[in-house]
Amino acid sequence: MAALTISNLRKSFGTFDALKDISISVTDGEFICLLGGSGCGKTTILRLIAGLETHDDGQILLGSDDLTAIPCHKRNIGMVFQSLALFPHLNVGDNVAYGMRLAGFPAAKITSEVSRLLNLVGLSGLMDRSVAALSGGQQQRVAIARALALQPQVFLMDEPFSALDAALRDQMQEEIKRIQRDLGITTFFVTHDQREAMALADRIVVMNDGKIEQAASPEELYTRPATRFVAEFIGINNIIARDGQMPIAVRPEALVLGASGDGISGKIMRQRRLGALLEREIKVGGQTLFQSEIAGSGVSFDIGAEVMVSWPDEKAWALPA
Ligand SMILES: Nc1ncnc2c1ncn2[C@@H]1O[C@H](COP(=O)(O)OP(=O)(O)OP(=O)(O)O)[C@@H](O)[C@H]1O
Ligand SMILES: [Mg+2]
Repeated sequence: MAALTISNLRKSFGTFDALKDISISVTDGEFICLLGGSGCGKTTILRLIAGLETHDDGQILLGSDDLTAIPCHKRNIGMVFQSLALFPHLNVGDNVAYGMRLAGFPAAKITSEVSRLLNLVGLSGLMDRSVAALSGGQQQRVAIARALALQPQVFLMDEPFSALDAALRDQMQEEIKRIQRDLGITTFFVTHDQREAMALADRIVVMNDGKIEQAASPEELYTRPATRFVAEFIGINNIIARDGQMPIAVRPEALVLGASGDGISGKIMRQRRLGALLEREIKVGGQTLFQSEIAGSGVSFDIGAEVMVSWPDEKAWALPA
């Protein structure tokens, strides 16, 4: 395992700048999620770390070694991509053993490693099964076991669960978190799903158009997004414009409604109950604000009611333009 330091990384395809000055310092054993919309450069970062693509400028250090000087097949990096690329003609055990055979491991060592890895991903007993006869989640586990077979120093996953249904996806997220923690392996996980990133990451790197918008813990990102892009991307619904001042962001659950008193005046346009939560839309000036509270915890209002909207100062923060 090792720390990974990416400094001032740049990559262009023709005249298109896919990565513009990317710097991230990742500590040994850290779980990083790269989060961002389609085309922002997430896969390109993984491909540069893996050596499948060459960078134009900057540096990637693994520990103190310059990774970019090491050819792809000599970098000890495990990868799981969205399209699994399992070998369909090989059974589960042979898929996992593939890299170890290429590397010339002794047969007895391969047998014990394969059973250790299948145990790790919860597939012991399926060693002789054809991969075509596995469910989507099981195939995903084979791909993870295969990627971890050579005890890589860095583990890269590119939207590995995007083809799975919601329940299986939740289960695989818990599994991958457990495996990553057990192995203490430095991990990059790409997703465009902010909930998935929040569930998995020690630190989330939010990307936009080839640049990093913010790198922070899930908690910090949720409570203190640094830019409007991050605030919108992670679903903060209220960005309130103010004359001559920076706009502020406030989460729906921080808004407090009263029939009178301090605040800004608004009108309730919609309200609906979703399980234990009551959600409202309030028209304030030309803008719609979203408010939510535990049903029954606040004053009740009818649709069309005039209300005063306020929030605790510490729950609102200014956003640079
Ligand atoms: N080999 C290539 N040749 C030309 N352009 C490329 C190449 N690879 C990637 N790009 C471009 O670089 C940009 C970043 O691509 P990348 O695959 O890293 O995006 P991404 O963030 O992984 O997106 P997605 O969420 O859709 O997978 C995109 O605009 C893409 O079209
Ligand atoms: Mg991608």
